[in-house]
Amino acid sequence: MSIKVTIHGKNGNSQVFLGEVINQLSELLPDKRVILITDKNVHDIYGSLFADFSPIVLAPGEEAKSLRSLEFVASQLIDLQADRDSFLLGVGGGVVCDLTGFMASIYMRGCEFGYLATSLLAMVDASVGGKTGINFGGRKNMLGTFAQPSFVLCDPIFLDTLPPQEMKNGLAEAFKHTLLQDWSLWPHWTEHIQTMKQGNAEALMPILEQSIRFKAQVVNLDEQENGWRKILNFGHTLGHAFEAALGIPHGEAIAAGMMLDLDLSVRYLQFPSELAIEIKNWMKSVGYHDLRGQLALPLLEKYIRNDKKKSDDRLAYPLLKNPGEPELVSWTFAELIQHLQALWVHE
Ligand SMILES: NC(=O)c1ccc[n+]([C@@H]2O[C@H](COP(=O)([O-])OP(=O)(O)OC[C@H]3O[C@@H](n4cnc5c(N)ncnc54)[C@H](O)[C@@H]3O)[C@@H](O)[C@H]2O)c1
Repeated sequence: MSIKVTIHGKNGNSQVFLGEVINQLSELLPDKRVILITDKNVHDIYGSLFADFSPIVLAPGEEAKSLRSLEFVASQLIDLQADRDSFLLGVGGGVVCDLTGFMASIYMRGCEFGYLATSLLAMVDASVGGKTGINFGGRKNMLGTFAQPSFVLCDPIFLDTLPPQEMKNGLAEAFKHTLLQDWSLWPHWTEHIQTMKQGNAEALMPILEQSIRFKAQVVNLDEQENGWRKILNFGHTLGHAFEAALGIPHGEAIAAGMMLDLDLSVRYLQFPSELAIEIKNWMKSVGYHDLRGQLALPLLEKYIRNDKKKSDDRLAYPLLKNPGEPELVSWTFAELIQHLQALWVHE
């Protein structure tokens, strides 16, 4: 079974294919020179599937989203005599997708590209929606573009080899989508979390489908994040601060950010408090942690502020009225800190 979802971008559409779709790759690739961009981990496991294409192989990990890697890839493209008519195929997790998309959107003023997403996080989030970029000046995604890949392939078969920590990272983002959009999947989460953690494709398909459809729906309303797309930042403002302050994996940090945002939702949007407790307890039971005990608020504040925020900055901050009912509240940065103080005091 395979599912196709379309994203309508300002500068072109993107087709996302989910399911047993790896065999569709050859049909989707245009009749052009294809250059593969991937990372070493993925290349070591799956390189033989792409032996027909000239490969550019990055070191694995977030460090690859750097100006240095971009320069490396650009030099390799020149060495390979790639031109505007070449097609860049990114095969990997979110890092490879973000870098490939950015490179493709600027190489010789832009060439066509597509992704084969191999991590859960890339399938449920990073490969979908057309945000590309690299980190710069100690800040995430400071340089980047909005550019839609011609196609994205998400085939859960690749998750068989994904390390458990990476599954946990992706599951946190997918759970965010369930909280924001379709609460009917809650029983599925509670019943199948263990098999999902093991990468079981059948158990993962409903949450993959929901995430991709939801993300496409939001992006189709607000591709360039002028407003509504900001709801996808639920758990992320605080999560990114935890990630930077404690040096913990992205999914753990986002989960902790979501727990706090649930508490803020209870206090300021009357999200049902019993349900918030039930959700947080379940999250803890499956291995995520409430991290507020591990970080003093002033330190967290410093890291949130590092994200370019000033006291009078107004944020469109995503909270939930109910599961599936997100709302953007307008707070200044100073107000956010004040609201967080209340949570730290009562903990
Ligand atoms: N563009 C967007 O909209 C968007 C959205 C969310 C996240 N992101 C970005 O995505 C990045 C994180 O993505 P990620 O979590 O996929 O990280 P990643 O790309 O670093 O992949 C995680 C690890 O898993 C390995 N891996 C990937 N697929 C594998 C497979 N099938 N088998 C074995 N190992 C595999 C990678 O080599 C890497 O070591 C961040 O840089 C984040 O900013 C972008």
